[in-house]
Amino acid sequence: MRNGFAGRDFLTLMDFAPHEILHILDTAGELKRKWSRREPHELLRGKTVAVLFEKKSTRTRVSFQAAIAHLGAQSFYLRPDELQTSRGEPIKDTARVIDRYCDALVIRTFGQEIVEEFAHWMKWPVINALTDLTHPCQGLADLLTIREKKGGFKGLKLCYSGDVWNVCHSLMVVSALLGMEMSVAVPAAYKPHPRITEFVEKTALSSGGKVVFTTDLKKAVKSADVVYANTWHSMGGPEESKEQRIRDFAPFQISEETMALADPTAIFMHCLPGYRGEEMTDGVIEGRWSVVFDQAENRMHTEKAVLALVMS
Ligand code: CP
Ligand code: NVA
Repeated sequence: MRNGFAGRDFLTLMDFAPHEILHILDTAGELKRKWSRREPHELLRGKTVAVLFEKKSTRTRVSFQAAIAHLGAQSFYLRPDELQTSRGEPIKDTARVIDRYCDALVIRTFGQEIVEEFAHWMKWPVINALTDLTHPCQGLADLLTIREKKGGFKGLKLCYSGDVWNVCHSLMVVSALLGMEMSVAVPAAYKPHPRITEFVEKTALSSGGKVVFTTDLKKAVKSADVVYANTWHSMGGPEESKEQRIRDFAPFQISEETMALADPTAIFMHCLPGYRGEEMTDGVIEGRWSVVFDQAENRMHTEKAVLALVMS
């Protein structure tokens, strides 16, 4: 089966047009329906996928390996400390070797340039399972969840509070691409990466989307359709101490009082892992607004769609 995705890398959502993102979501929706009816969907039977994680993970690793199994392919989990890269073998050699055995690589690492280097040296697709800069798989699952709960994207108000890092960046990108109005409520010193700001500036105009940064959480959350929290301490994040970040971000906690300012039908989202008593209260993540486990489930369906499309 040929499609416009075959053989492509999935490194950031900035590489995909809005109609392509919607097509991935539609494919994910179909695969989700099949999975819920336990209908076989072994679209990648006989293929092999290397799965390399240089940072901790629960959702991404398990959802990818489950998705690969449901698609009839075989995954190989590679521990970075067991690879020769840990003894100095260059990425370009590792990439070319994996390319000879496997049909795709799923990788979670630090710098975006690392996934880009793997992609440069590999002929088969490389899929970004989180870098410091972006978390495109999370972005897709967030979109599928928003579409399921809210029916669409245009004009939707999204309030984000949490670290200005990969998840924030991916939400900024999808807001700009699909016409959502995102307000990021964070301390003034926390700024997005210029590569993301530049993309948002040139993209948001044509979609009607908007991304604004503010230190006023109450203003950001007012009438929001989606309230999204994220950790204050990301993996691989900058050097401020944990104590410093807790002090900086404390006024930005999402509480039941914060949720009361949002639209009455607002949903609460979080990529997880979530730290109760920091970025949100237990009452919010366990409360009537919370869709965090539907969101976590959608990781698997959207990743399955990406794998099926780029490996077909
Ligand atoms: N949301 C997310 O990526 O979770 P993990 O770090 O557990 O994979
Ligand atoms: N921003 C967080 C997301 C974890 C899924 C981190 O990078 O640690």
